[in-house]
Amino acid sequence: MSLSTDHGVTGRVANLIIVSLVVFVITYSCLSPSSESMAFFRLQRSSNATEVAAKDELETALERASMVNKTLMIAVINKKYVEENGMLDLFLQSLREGEDTKFLIRHLLLVAVDQIAFDRCKLLKLHCYRLAIKRTDLSREQLYMSDGFIKMMWQRIAFLRDVLKHGYGFIFTDMDVMWLRNPFTKLNHVGDDLQISCDAYNGNPLDDSNPINTGFYFVGSNNKTILLFDAWYASRIISARMQDQSALSVLKSKGIFKQLGMKVRFLDTRHFSGFCQDSRDFKEVTTVHANCCRSVKAKLVDLTAVLKAWKSSNSTAMVRWPEHKACAASWIKDIRI
Ligand SMILES: *[C@@H]1O[C@H](CO)[C@@H](O)[C@H](O)[C@H]1NC(C)=O
Ligand SMILES: *[C@@H]1O[C@H](CO)[C@@H](O)[C@H](O)[C@H]1NC(C)=O
Ligand SMILES: *[C@@H]1O[C@H](CO)[C@@H](O)[C@H](O)[C@H]1NC(C)=O
Ligand SMILES: *[C@@H]1O[C@H](CO)[C@@H](O)[C@H](O)[C@H]1NC(C)=O
Repeated sequence: MSLSTDHGVTGRVANLIIVSLVVFVITYSCLSPSSESMAFFRLQRSSNATEVAAKDELETALERASMVNKTLMIAVINKKYVEENGMLDLFLQSLREGEDTKFLIRHLLLVAVDQIAFDRCKLLKLHCYRLAIKRTDLSREQLYMSDGFIKMMWQRIAFLRDVLKHGYGFIFTDMDVMWLRNPFTKLNHVGDDLQISCDAYNGNPLDDSNPINTGFYFVGSNNKTILLFDAWYASRIISARMQDQSALSVLKSKGIFKQLGMKVRFLDTRHFSGFCQDSRDFKEVTTVHANCCRSVKAKLVDLTAVLKAWKSSNSTAMVRWPEHKACAASWIKDIRI
C-alpha cells in the first residue's frame, strides 16, 4: 500500500502481464525504432516538426519562467487550491519565507486546470499556463472516476512529457509541499536523469525498492526521460483506475529505469521530508510534503504549523516538528464514515 493519499491510495489493480507488455513494447521501440509495429511510440517520439520546432504557446511560457539553464519549477493548480488562504497562498508563503527560495517564484510555472485557477494565477502576476483538456483522452476514465482532479492526472503527465520534449528540465512539486530551503543545492548530482522523493527512505539512494512519491521530483530532459514519460502516459490505457504515482511504481517494479538505462536517485526524507516520515534533521530539511494526509483542510492546518515551527526555529536551532494532528484525524474520521 502506498502511504500518501494525493497520489497514493491505490488499487493494486494492475494486470501485471499487460504492464510487462507495455514495458517490453517501449524497450523494443527503443532498440528498433524503425519497426513498423511500433507506430504508436514512434508517433510520440518523432513529433519534431509539429511539437518541438514550432515556437508555440508552451515554448513561450517555458522560456519566460525558466532559468538560463532551461530549468524551472512546475506545479498544478485548480480552483480549490487557489481559494483565499488556501494551498497556493501557503505554498507561496513558504517560498517567500524559506532560505534562498524567494527568487524561485520567478521560475515557477503554474499549470491551471480550470479557468478560476488560471485567473487567480494571472491576478497574482505569476507565470501561468492553461492546460487544455482533451476530452478524447478522458472519455473512458470518466466512467470510473468521480474526482475531477484524478481525471486531470493523466493529462498532466502528457503535459510534463511535452515540457521535456521542449528541452526543459524541471522540479515538479505538489502544492502541499513547503519549500523551506533551496532544493537545487541538494539536487546537483551530475548525470542523474531523475531524482524523486520517497514516502519512506530505506537508506540507499540508488535502490529501486524505495517507495516513491511523485509529489516532488527533479527530472532532466533527455531521450531516456522522454521515453519514461511516454511509458508512464501509455500505461493509462491499462492503469486507468490507478493514480499516476501507482502507475509509475508499477513501471518501476517492472524495472523500467534499468531498461531505459536511467540514473535515478531516491531522495532522503532527511532533506525531502514528509508527514509519512518526518526528517530527523531540522538543519538539513529542505522541503516538507503533507503526504499521508487525507484532506486539503487537514493539510492546510498541519502545514501551517510546520511553517510556523520553521520560522520560529530561526533555521539554526533544533526544534521538534509539531504533531500532524489534523492529518492524523483526517484518517480516523474517514474510517468512521
Ligand atoms: C527537426 O526539425 C528541424 C527544424 O525543422 C530540422 O532541421 C531537423 O532536421 C529535424 N530533425 C529530425 C530528426 O526530424
Ligand atoms: C540551474 O540554475 C540554477 C540557478 O543558478 C541552479 O540552482 C541549478 O542547480 C541549475 N540546474 C541545473 C540542472 O544545472
Ligand atoms: C536522442 O537520441 C538521438 C539518436 O540516438 C540523438 O541523435 C539525440 O542527440 C538524442 N537527444 C538527446 C536530447 O539526448
Ligand atoms: C538565530 O538565533 C541565534 C541564537 O538565538 C542568533 O544568534 C542568530 O543571530 C539568529 N539568526 C537569525 C538569522 O536570526
